[in-house]
Amino acid sequence: MIIILFGPPGAGKGTQAQRIEKAHGLVQLSTGDMLRAAVAAKTHYGQKAQEKMQAGQLVSDDIVIGIIADRIKEDDCKNGFILDGFPRNVAQAKALDVMLEEEGVKLDAVVQMEVNDEALVDRISGRYTCANCNEGYHDTNLKPKVDGVCDVCGSTEFKRRADDNAETVAKRLDEYYAQTAPVLPYYAEKGILQQVDGMAAIDDVTAQINAVLTA
Ligand code: AP5
Repeated sequence: MIIILFGPPGAGKGTQAQRIEKAHGLVQLSTGDMLRAAVAAKTHYGQKAQEKMQAGQLVSDDIVIGIIADRIKEDDCKNGFILDGFPRNVAQAKALDVMLEEEGVKLDAVVQMEVNDEALVDRISGRYTCANCNEGYHDTNLKPKVDGVCDVCGSTEFKRRADDNAETVAKRLDEYYAQTAPVLPYYAEKGILQQVDGMAAIDDVTAQINAVLTA
């Protein structure tokens, strides 16, 4: 199965992708995570992407399309994958169609997660992750069971993303409405667009997505 989790910054794409990955045996492909890894490793791509990411702008299509085209050819993607943060404009959506056709596979569903802007800003500004295993948390919505200790690996070190500040979040939302939301009619026309209520509690959103995937 190949699906896209689609939504604005902070909609819960990463949170849900990790859950679906475990439940359905699919691989999460997050272009944001891949770009952050490239920035941290100071690769050629990473150096080109860093400035755009810090400004809340989209990284150039040639970089992200190249990253995904290479990644979906790897063995662990043969059983299916979840695209999280890709495509982010119509050019990327069309490039994805070409890649999937070359691999002889098809896109099963695009799941749009609807969340209002006020909640998005709250979610992003409260988000942090374990510095060791990358498990995601939130200051109020999703705290570790023991304060200051990661539930998964026991680490006491946590980190916040460089682009999770008020100014950059506003720019990321502008980019979403200007460039990414126009992709929705593209998938609606193909008859594979499904909506879920991303304002619901995390477990409820998971249940809604599972219902779409098993329909
Ligand atoms: P990327 O990393 O993709 O960030 P994003 O799309 O802005 O999305 P986020 O990761 O911020 O949010 P999310 O939807 O995953 O929410 P999460 O699950 O963490 O991209 C970063 C940058 O990389 C871009 O700005 C761009 O520069 C570049 N880039 C990436 N892909 C690109 C592409 N294809 N083309 C060009 N450039 C690209 O949840 C957020 C918080 O809310 C968490 O704390 C979570 O616990 C909480 N939460 C989640 N769900 C719920 C819920 N239902 N109720 C309450 N709280 C919730």
